[in-house]
Order: sequence, then C-alpha cells, then structure tokens
Amino acid sequence: MASGDIEQGQEKAAICGQCHGKNGISIVPIYPNLAGQKEQYLVLSLQAYRSGERVNMAMTPHARKLSDEDIADLAAYYAAMDPAGGGLKQTD
Ligand code: HEC
Repeated sequence: MASGDIEQGQEKAAICGQCHGKNGISIVPIYPNLAGQKEQYLVLSLQAYRSGERVNMAMTPHARKLSDEDIADLAAYYAAMDPAGGGLKQTD
C-alpha cells in the first residue's frame, strides 16, 4: 500500500474537520475521533463507505467523492495525529 501525503491530507481534510474535529477529535459523540487511528483502518473504512459496504447518511456522501489518492492522503494525515488532541505529531 502506497503511503499517503500528510500535507495533502491536511488540505483535503478541511471538510472532514467539520464533523471529526480540527484535531481529529470530535466535539460531538456521534462523530468518531480519527486522530491517531491506524492508517490501514482509515483506508479500509473509507473504501467501505465509498463502495457502499458500510453505509452512513453523514459519511457516505463524503466518501463517494474520494479518489484512492485522497483516501491515502487523508488516512496518513489522521494517523499522524496525536490521539490526545494535540494535533499533528512532530515528524522529522
Ligand atoms: C457530516 C459529518 C461528517 C463529515 C463531513 C465527515 N464524516 Fe466521517 N463520519 C461521520 C459519522 C457520523 C461517522 C460514523 C458513521 C458510522 O457509524 O458508520 C463517520 C465515520 C468516519 C470514519 C470511520 C471511523 C471509525 O471509527 O470507524 C472515517 C475513517 C471517517 N469518517 C473519515 C472521514 C473523512 C476522511 C472525511 C472527509 C472526507 C469525513 N469523514 C467527513 C460524519 C462525517
């Protein structure tokens, strides 16, 4: 699996942050936290929404618009975030 680009992911995540929180920590319990989630899990979840295997009224319309590259970038971005809400972890 090719790894996504964190900076690209950050740009693409502007709309995602409306529900999942700017730091990947959601302020509303019905929206799952994404910060620090495993990259592979994020990719598989987004692919599942896109294909219709996993269906959610809030999530499906957003996932439908994503390319494979978008999914890889978004997964890399959220996986690189601090699960405690500190935003992007320091990377070298
Ligand atoms: C309108 C609100 C909303 C927006 C915008 C949104 N999501 Fe979601 N997202 C949700 C909800 C609600 C769920 C939980 C759905 C479920 O139970 O299957 C979810 C679930 C997810 C999951 C699965 C998390 C898990 O723990 O299984 C991922 C990954 C995800 N969203 C990523 C994104 C990305 C990336 C974007 C931007 C392209 C985005 N979401 C935009 C509401 C939203």
